[in-house]
Amino acid sequence: MKRRTLLQCLGGGIASSFAPVRLFAQPAAGMVTSTTATSTIMGATAWPPHEGTSLNLGWRFHLGDIVPPPLREQSATYVAAKAGGARGAAAMNYNDDDWRSVDLPHDWAIEAPPMPTENIAQGYRKRGYGWYRRSLNLDPALTGRYLEIQFGAIASNATVWFNGTPVAHNWSGYNGFYIDISSMATFGGKPNILSVRVDAEKAEGWWYEGAGIYRDVWLVDRAPVSIATDGVYAHPRRRADGRWHIPVEVNVYSIEKDAVPVTFTAELLDSSGAVIATTGGGGNAQPLELCTLHAEIDDFQPRLWSLEQPVRYSVRTRVLRDGRVVDERLTPCGFRTLRFDGQEGFFFNDTHTKIKGVCVHQDHAGVGVAVPPALVEWRVRQLKAMGCNAIRCAHGAPDAVLLDVCDRVGMLVMDENRNFNVSPDYLEQLRWLVRRDRNRPCVFMWSVFNEEPLQGTPAGYEMVRRAVATVKELDDTRPATAAMSNGMFTPMNVSQAVNVVGFNYQHTSYDRFHQQHPDLPMLSSEDTSGFITRGAWAKDKERKIHSSDDSDAASWGLTQRAAWKAIDTRPYLAGGFAWSAFDYHGEPTPERWPANSSYFGILDLCGFPKSAFFLRRAMWVKDRPLLDILPHWNWEGREGHPVEVLLATNVERVELWCNGRKVGEGNPDPYDMIAFEVPYQPGVLEARGWRNGRQVITSKVETTGAAVKLRLTPDRMELAGDGVDAQPITIEALDAKGRAVPFADHVINLAVEGGRIIGVGNGDPTSVAPSKGNQVRLFNGLAQVIVQSERGSAGKLTLTTTAEGVRPAAGVIRIRRAEIRQLLPHSIQQLVSLWRQSPVVRERPKVIPNLADNDMNSWDQVIAGERPAAAASDGYVMIVTRVTLSGPMTEFGAVLKFGGISGSGEVLVNDASAARKNDAQPGGLDVELAPGAREATIGVVLRSVAGEPVGLSGPVFVEARRSAR
Ligand code: GAL
Repeated sequence: MKRRTLLQCLGGGIASSFAPVRLFAQPAAGMVTSTTATSTIMGATAWPPHEGTSLNLGWRFHLGDIVPPPLREQSATYVAAKAGGARGAAAMNYNDDDWRSVDLPHDWAIEAPPMPTENIAQGYRKRGYGWYRRSLNLDPALTGRYLEIQFGAIASNATVWFNGTPVAHNWSGYNGFYIDISSMATFGGKPNILSVRVDAEKAEGWWYEGAGIYRDVWLVDRAPVSIATDGVYAHPRRRADGRWHIPVEVNVYSIEKDAVPVTFTAELLDSSGAVIATTGGGGNAQPLELCTLHAEIDDFQPRLWSLEQPVRYSVRTRVLRDGRVVDERLTPCGFRTLRFDGQEGFFFNDTHTKIKGVCVHQDHAGVGVAVPPALVEWRVRQLKAMGCNAIRCAHGAPDAVLLDVCDRVGMLVMDENRNFNVSPDYLEQLRWLVRRDRNRPCVFMWSVFNEEPLQGTPAGYEMVRRAVATVKELDDTRPATAAMSNGMFTPMNVSQAVNVVGFNYQHTSYDRFHQQHPDLPMLSSEDTSGFITRGAWAKDKERKIHSSDDSDAASWGLTQRAAWKAIDTRPYLAGGFAWSAFDYHGEPTPERWPANSSYFGILDLCGFPKSAFFLRRAMWVKDRPLLDILPHWNWEGREGHPVEVLLATNVERVELWCNGRKVGEGNPDPYDMIAFEVPYQPGVLEARGWRNGRQVITSKVETTGAAVKLRLTPDRMELAGDGVDAQPITIEALDAKGRAVPFADHVINLAVEGGRIIGVGNGDPTSVAPSKGNQVRLFNGLAQVIVQSERGSAGKLTLTTTAEGVRPAAGVIRIRRAEIRQLLPHSIQQLVSLWRQSPVVRERPKVIPNLADNDMNSWDQVIAGERPAAAASDGYVMIVTRVTLSGPMTEFGAVLKFGGISGSGEVLVNDASAARKNDAQPGGLDVELAPGAREATIGVVLRSVAGEPVGLSGPVFVEARRSAR
């Protein structure tokens, strides 16, 4: 259908409407929409706000590896061995103009559909290698400041070059890393180049991990004496007398040349920003050292951070030099207590609390691992609504955004380390995790591994002993655990080295272990692993469909109900983490191609609730009556035949009615619930529930007619126009009476204006349809489109949807103008720093000579801009280099800008005279480079006068006449 017709369908048009268009509807059953203002959502509202400038925009990306040709020549090999001498795509002057432009976060693996030839564990997605490049134009005002580039995470292995020098090798796709570029950065229009080679052939998991720079990148700039990244540790503790205090540790780093006396203040702020308590201290910041300062915040009466009321404080730390504040950092802070007991389980804020946890992988339909912050929040909200109170980050460090959200909504987090390896590089990954996250009230446990084969051996024990010691050095307030799938009964094993023993699928061993170690706290770190296809109610082997009846689980696991019963009925168990909260790409156990995402999820890949969601919710939520009828009531062709109806409920007594006739009643078991065989008859199925003798709830499902129209349900009626804010919109097909049709499978065409679609999905584990694009098929009645605002936009986003045989739908989301974080501009310049300078010769050279390849000595290596040496005698010197020009430079022409030349002479471009400099005094010179050439040899011929400096006294750049970016 044409757009014009669509607008007519909306009755009067949508152009001027900011009000919710009526076609945007209430959320689908079970889904939780935002009730809060949008201002609390998205990355810009990280808690506390992220320091620095975003480097997320304007990257160049090349899919595949780029291997420079092998070196054969002496001089080229010499040059390549030097700082700044990187070759190929890591070189500063590499021409990346024909690379794709991308913004971060970016996951290239989700951009291509699954392929049967790729790794099943990674969702049959091709990963491979990729390169990213970005230039940075740094303000001269930053000269002398401490500058650091922070990568949130790169999947999986990465090498980073800054200005042609390798500055980081990062061997985990889950940890962030920080690069101090203060010594190497150039300013004031001089380009800085970041190049990143990503090796995503390397896998760290047996699940989908994505590929590329999939978390944020930041540039932070600080005073020369300032607080180090993750440099404040201010986690509250409660004393035996019940009073609270906060030992504050501040790590100050100095790039000054001499020791600098500093003082600091640390203030406890409540959520309104009011100062509650203050402390301070001081010390001497030694040059190029971390200096740790201590103080204590005491004497205040906090409100607790609880799951129901996560009251947040923050600690504001200020470092002063000569009495002036030079740096300030806000650190998240919350007051709560944790206690694990071998007999009684877990106490949170002194209240017995069963851990109702779920394991979470980080990817989502449509976007892979490049999940926008608002979607992270949306996912956590779905879990919170299920009664879930804890997330286990399986199996690696989460994006800090997840912790922001969990701190804000009151959700506990088991923070997990990825690589079980206690060699120095890998212990550093663990240290990074603890340092980054140890102030978070939501983080309540550290997990040092998941299911390691060494778990039952002395080696495993020794390794965990070291990992736990590393954790404790940095944070002794939270217990360390390890998720053991075996080995806990051997003479020497990992359970002896942790504070809380984690059991993965060891339900048959809970009691035996507890009997042997009655005082050792125990927890189900992982359980369940049931198989369910959302919306399907019969197993179909051929079509790789698993029923929603909660009867099917992996041989090592249990169904939703059996798994939780085994935990909840054992008071000594602190609780459990169900595998898994959401379906995820990869690990489609027990199926194979074309199945490419998991069946384990309690919610599907889009976050649509499966039957497991309603069962879990009924088991986990106590404070309000719940009664959900599973399944739908559309069984055409089964008239008169019994259909099993399962009631997911937490009430004491139920009745089930079909078309006004009672067809069942009984007292549901709190775990098994209650099921009835009901002969199918189209119409209305109604359930009624009682608590304490009073009817407290009813619910119903109805047989629907054929689909006649579409319905769109956004999460929120507003997006921030910052290019970051995003949200999922649910698409359903409705019958004439407005009821969602459970088996609808229409192909939906999507068109968006005033924003963009960043991914689509439908939760079908066997779908090999693209995750990107303008089309998505409904799967068992549901599909999802994820929309994102454009940067700097305001007004509205309009989504229109059409499908064959049904009326279209459209909806409008208001786009609120939002403050846009300062983004760092690109440079259109290339630095030409490395030159060779000849000794003084008598005759004026006319052409640029070919230097002997192995001659490193008769001609000096010089860096343009370094003070030139005095000439040994009168005569001439020649200074040469070769430049590779970028696409715009070749296309539009360029200017070679000499910041300073000492001596008079001329510049040759490919042996032709291009410009003259008559004055011997240091001065700049611009030289035109005509369009067309890809490479140029530059020779600067200068008159030398004995004892006078001669050479390139200023930096040299080549600048495109126009930018293609
Ligand atoms: C566990 C493992 C998880 C996942 C799960 C599937 O053994 O820790 O990552 O693979 O099995 O059942």
